[in-house]
Parts: sequence; structure tokens; C-alpha cells
Amino acid sequence: MPKDKQSQMPSLQDLLAGRGDMDEESRRKLEALLRTLSLQEDDSKNKKDMESHRFWRTQPVLKYDEVSDEIGAIEPSVPVDQVKQTPESLPNDFEWCELDMRDEQDAKELYDFLTKNYVEDDGGQFRFDYSFEFLRWALQPPGWRKDWLVGVRVTSTRRLVAFISAIPVHLRTMDKVTLMTEINFLNVHKRLRSKRLAPVMIREITRRSHLQGIFQAVYTAGAVLPKPVSTCQYFHRSLNPKKLVECGFSRVPHNSTMARMIKNYKVPEKPALEGFRVMEAKDVPEVRALLNKFLARYQFAPEFESDEEIVHWILPHEKVVWSYVVEDPTTHKITDMVSFYSLPSTVIGNPKHSTLNAAYLFYYATDKGLPEQKGGELDEQAQATFGNRLNEVMADALVMARKQDFDVFNALHLMDNHTFLSTQKFGSGDGFLNFYVYNWRCPEVQQEKIGLVML
Ligand SMILES: CC(C)(COP(=O)(O)OP(=O)(O)OC[C@H]1O[C@@H](n2cnc3c(N)ncnc32)[C@H](O)[C@@H]1OP(=O)(O)O)[C@@H](O)C(=O)NCCC(=O)NCCS
Repeated sequence: MPKDKQSQMPSLQDLLAGRGDMDEESRRKLEALLRTLSLQEDDSKNKKDMESHRFWRTQPVLKYDEVSDEIGAIEPSVPVDQVKQTPESLPNDFEWCELDMRDEQDAKELYDFLTKNYVEDDGGQFRFDYSFEFLRWALQPPGWRKDWLVGVRVTSTRRLVAFISAIPVHLRTMDKVTLMTEINFLNVHKRLRSKRLAPVMIREITRRSHLQGIFQAVYTAGAVLPKPVSTCQYFHRSLNPKKLVECGFSRVPHNSTMARMIKNYKVPEKPALEGFRVMEAKDVPEVRALLNKFLARYQFAPEFESDEEIVHWILPHEKVVWSYVVEDPTTHKITDMVSFYSLPSTVIGNPKHSTLNAAYLFYYATDKGLPEQKGGELDEQAQATFGNRLNEVMADALVMARKQDFDVFNALHLMDNHTFLSTQKFGSGDGFLNFYVYNWRCPEVQQEKIGLVML
């Protein structure tokens, strides 16, 4: 769980806020430059050289020093009957299993395993605690397969000790749409780390993907591996600063007080946009058209191929995903949508709080200021309309998140988030997320051109 480092050292926003004579455009450029420098510094700290990647150097991925102008497979696909039919070998005493998320016991077992073993922040203060309902939702979208929810058990005790998942996604890189697997929830039990089990898990899910005729995959990781398509920074918007400070997530800046922080982060009681309401089933076709059109702005983004996918991913799902639309009061057209999902973290060893309730920005879209033509550039006036509108939509999303008792609202520096992050009082965090593609050559993508949100 990346943390809010805004209060531990002056953030870019704090530093830049003092420079009143700087216009918005120059400020944005300076911010982008500083961010690139900080990304490069971070990158070199965490990066191994290519030869030390005993596993990844053998895989069809770009090397760190490789740049590609082309888009396409690195290795050719093979006929499905030539794909290895038997599973990868596991060390003695371990065996493969599949987790059926329709089954209460399997889902509970996976939840327990991830809750105790999944991603922690560098300081070991927080650990992701994806809920049981969330895992059932995330792992059973249209096209899900049980044999893509792969576990490893200790043969004698049946205990689950490792997991990896794949789901299908239509990903567009530049103008090319490819059916890929989206890989997530890779986890090895804490006691079995550094024993080279992760490469076996990755090989096995790759084989199972090949068996379905899919030879490309997309995945994200905090770890630096060969070679990120893009790297996005985490940003955090405090909603409950008192609890965030008590949890050690943020600190009171030396020149502030708790009372001032509470005042600063207070959000209105009600959303402000006329026609802002909870998304309903009847909105699905319009939301799909709006979202797909909006996502065409980006170079690396999913395409929602059916209404069924929107029903699954975007329609509100209790305790998991919240989605809102803006319905024009006159035309009744849906002009905007915004969604966020719940991903709490366990607060490790804190006497007062056991859970931090975090909302994560999911997909959003607006047609305000957008050119009619798919993916076209915005002129200056359209850019201003567009930026203002996204700010209004996000301000209302923050109101709704606070109403649901979220303590913090997290977002990555991707899509058009740069238009609202500082205005809506997000602070930069200390975490970065790298985006990767497997067996897919493509040019690097700027953070602002990433349109994929992974859970
Ligand atoms: C990520 C995790 C499964 C890796 O397992 P491990 O026991 O630490 O590492 P192993 O000895 O099994 O394997 C090491 C190899 O896996 C690679 N690896 C590590 N993390 C990886 C990741 N997130 N994605 C892909 N490969 C990864 C390493 O780079 C290394 O390969 P290399 O020699 O080519 O560099 C394990 O650390 C874990 O469960 N961590 C907590 C959950 C987590 O962070 N999951 C990843 C979310 S993106």
C-alpha cells in the first residue's frame, strides 16, 4: 500500500504552490519534469541488470535498453495442439489446484490466504485486504475460467500456499486491439518466498493462456522488471485525516495542525452537479458508448466489447464498486460517469485501527469538451471545458466516497488525472505502479496516455 509522503516532506504541489507567478501550463510542465526525474531516480534504485533476471531474461519481453517503434508479438503464436499439455513441475510435496470462486469455501480460502500474504508497503505498515466479495467480482468477469484461477497446495495438508489469476481483456495498444490475459493476484506464502516459485506460477498461467489461443498478457507490479511500458505514480486524497495520521499513513506537516488538516480536507455534504446520480442498469448501453469513446483518448486502454462487461465492471456492486452518472436534465443524455472501488488495507500492529478504508478511482468519462471524432486532440478552449468538467465530476465522486466512510481516495497519475489531482487536493504518494505486456512489442507510453485501470 503506497503511502502519502506529502506530509513527510514538502510535495511537488506544496513547493510549486508557493510560486504564484507561474502560469498553469508552466507549472504542469515543471511538475512533469520533476516527476520524470524522480521516476528515473527511483527506477535506478530498484532495477536489477538484465543478466541478473534469471527468469525474465528468458521470457519474450523487451530488454531494458530496447526501444520499439513497432507493435506486435515478440514470439509467434503456436497452434494450440502444440502447446505443452502437462502442467509445469512443482517441487515435491506441492500440487496444482484450481480455485472455484462460486464455491464459498474456495473463495474464503483465497481471501484468507491473500489477506495474510499479499502486497505490503515497504515499511510493513499496511497490507492489501481485498474483500471476499471483491475477489469474487474481480475473478469472475465475462469470459472467466476456473482453470485460470491457479493455486498451489501442500499435498499433505491441502493448505493453499500460492496463487495467480488470469482474466480476459481486450487491450488496445495505440490502434491495435488484442485479446490478452490480464494477470493479477500473484502471491506466494511468506514462508515460501525466494524459492523461485513465482517463475513456475508465471510459466503455468502462460501455458494455460496459450491453451486458449491467447499469447499476450498485461500485468502491473510495483517491482521493476524488464521492461515497463509505463510507470505511474500514486496520489492520495485524504478524506479522514485524523484516522490517516493515527494509522501512520500521513503526518501533520510541521507548519500545520490537525484542526487545519480536517478543515482543509472537508468535502461538501452533497454532490453539486445537476443530474449527478447512482448509475442504473438502464444506463449500461450509454455508459459503454461514452466510456469507449473516452478511452479512445489513450494509447493503452481496454475496450468494453459488450454491455455484459459494463454490467459486470461498472454497474454498482455492493461493497465493491460505486458508479455514478450525470444525466443532462434537459436531454436526459448521460454526459459523464465516474466509478471507484473499495480496497481496504490491514493496518499492521496499530493499537487503535485495524483497517484503512481506501477508495480507488476506477473508470470515468465525460463528453464535455471532447471532439466528436474518436481520439481527436482538444483545442485550448475545449481543454479548459474538459478540465473544469473533470474537476466537477471528481469533486462529486469525493463527496460520495466520504459518504461511504472511506478514509482516503487513491488514484494513479494516468488518464487525464493531471487535470484534477492538485486542484482536488491529492498529494503525491511514495508508490509507483509499472505497467507491463508479455510477448508484445510496443513503444513506451506516457502516464497520461495510459487508460487501463487494474485492480
Ligand atoms: C511477488 C512474489 C510472488 C514473488 O515471489 P518471491 O518468492 O519473492 O520470488 P521467487 O524467488 O519465487 O521468484 C523471483 C523471480 O520472480 C520475479 N518477480 C518478483 N515479483 C514479481 C512480480 N510482481 N511480477 C512478476 N515477476 C516477479 C523476480 O524478478 C524474479 O525473477 P528474475 O530472477 O528474473 O528477476 C512474492 O514476493 C509475493 O507474494 N509478494 C507479495 C505479493 C506481491 O507483491 N505480489 C505481486 C503483486 S504485483
